[in-house]
Amino acid sequence: MSENPSSQLPERVDVLIVGAGAAGLMCAATAGNRGRSVLVLDHANKVGKKILMSGGGRCNFTNLYTAPENFYSENPHFCKSALARFTQWDFIALVEKHGIPYHEKTLGQLFCDNKSKDIVDLLLAECRAAKAQIRTRCSIRNIEPLEKGFIVDTSLGPVFCESLVIATGGLSIPTMGATGFGYDVARQFGLNIIPTRAALVPFTQHRRQLERQGELPGSALEVTASCGEGSFSEQMLFTHRGLSGPAVLQISSHWREGQAVSFDLAPGRDLAEWLRERREQNPDSHLHSALAEIWSKKLVQYFLQRQGVESRALKQYGEKALAGIGQKLQTWQLLPAGTEGYRTAEVTLGGVDTDEISSRTMECKAQSGLYFIGEVLDVTGWLGGYNFQWAWASGHAAGEVA
Ligand code: FDA
Repeated sequence: MSENPSSQLPERVDVLIVGAGAAGLMCAATAGNRGRSVLVLDHANKVGKKILMSGGGRCNFTNLYTAPENFYSENPHFCKSALARFTQWDFIALVEKHGIPYHEKTLGQLFCDNKSKDIVDLLLAECRAAKAQIRTRCSIRNIEPLEKGFIVDTSLGPVFCESLVIATGGLSIPTMGATGFGYDVARQFGLNIIPTRAALVPFTQHRRQLERQGELPGSALEVTASCGEGSFSEQMLFTHRGLSGPAVLQISSHWREGQAVSFDLAPGRDLAEWLRERREQNPDSHLHSALAEIWSKKLVQYFLQRQGVESRALKQYGEKALAGIGQKLQTWQLLPAGTEGYRTAEVTLGGVDTDEISSRTMECKAQSGLYFIGEVLDVTGWLGGYNFQWAWASGHAAGEVA
């Protein structure tokens, strides 16, 4: 295996993979293990950049509970075959084979104990064992389909390949090397693209709203965020630009411009009922002290102020007043100004229309020998290791046949 940018490219290979990210490297190792000669090309200066930055530097490499329901796609059935044939357990077995220490953080999310680089090293070791070659700093200029195979013109010279695999990912984080290359290739071959948009992305808020939130950036709380058909109970974080945290990232995949998002700020309890109980137990306690059992002092102050609720001894509120206060404080309807966009989004929703692709092999139905894998396809996972599991599974599916 070579990552040497200056060494000459082979004139012909069985499988040429564009994109040395999660899906591309998995595909390379799988195809190489079948005895296919494999070359992976990437325009970036190093491989697996998104893996390196993922999971806060510890790569949330899969999820114990991965199931087709955790993915968005125009065709929700498309992901089933690949996910069933290379499961989370298969990837965990690889992680264990390489002696990488890991742990479950929450909700089935598996993270490296040490660093994301362990996962890149695993993939490079697998590629090395499978004799797959890798070249970085190499861009693709042109793809010409032949009767059988393709001539790919690159900045390091032309290569003939029998199978061409596009694994160039989505549009998120352009500074990390993301491009729309995969969509351009799809268009070249007349494939449909499901419109793309940034997902798993923080919300921005209007300036006036941010000013009202004043000192809140850095404060977090458990919420249930709902929009359209989506509903997620996880943490929400106030930031200097708006809202983030897992609940917000998750619900951003359901949100469309102009829609409101509703938050249950005390999930799992009926706040009015809870306040009633507190009043019985401790009638002299003030509303703000009672609420400080659930939220930080800053949040209590902000929520009371926002709803114009004055904090008095609990015994001073009648039944109706307490029910009203509970209801007002528990629910929050927010109209986000927008999202932070591809600059900080973890993934891209939409992509190459899966109607154009075989769900078993990832091969393009209209162009024999052309494959699309990973995030470039219209398959997008929830937050929590699902997107990498899709990259592994789709990369493996193509690697078994390309
Ligand atoms: P990926 O983006 O990994 O690889 C594409 C490759 O193609 C890159 O190496 C790129 O340089 C190359 N490329 C692009 N254009 C090219 C061109 N024109 N010519 C040549 N090469 C080109 N998911 C998850 O499951 N758990 C997690 O913890 C995280 N965390 C996370 C954090 C952050 C900050 C981001 C941005 C994303 C995540 N994700 C995640 C999502 C996950 O990183 C993503 O879904 C996968 O990396 C997608 O794998 P792919 O191989 O499809 O694309």
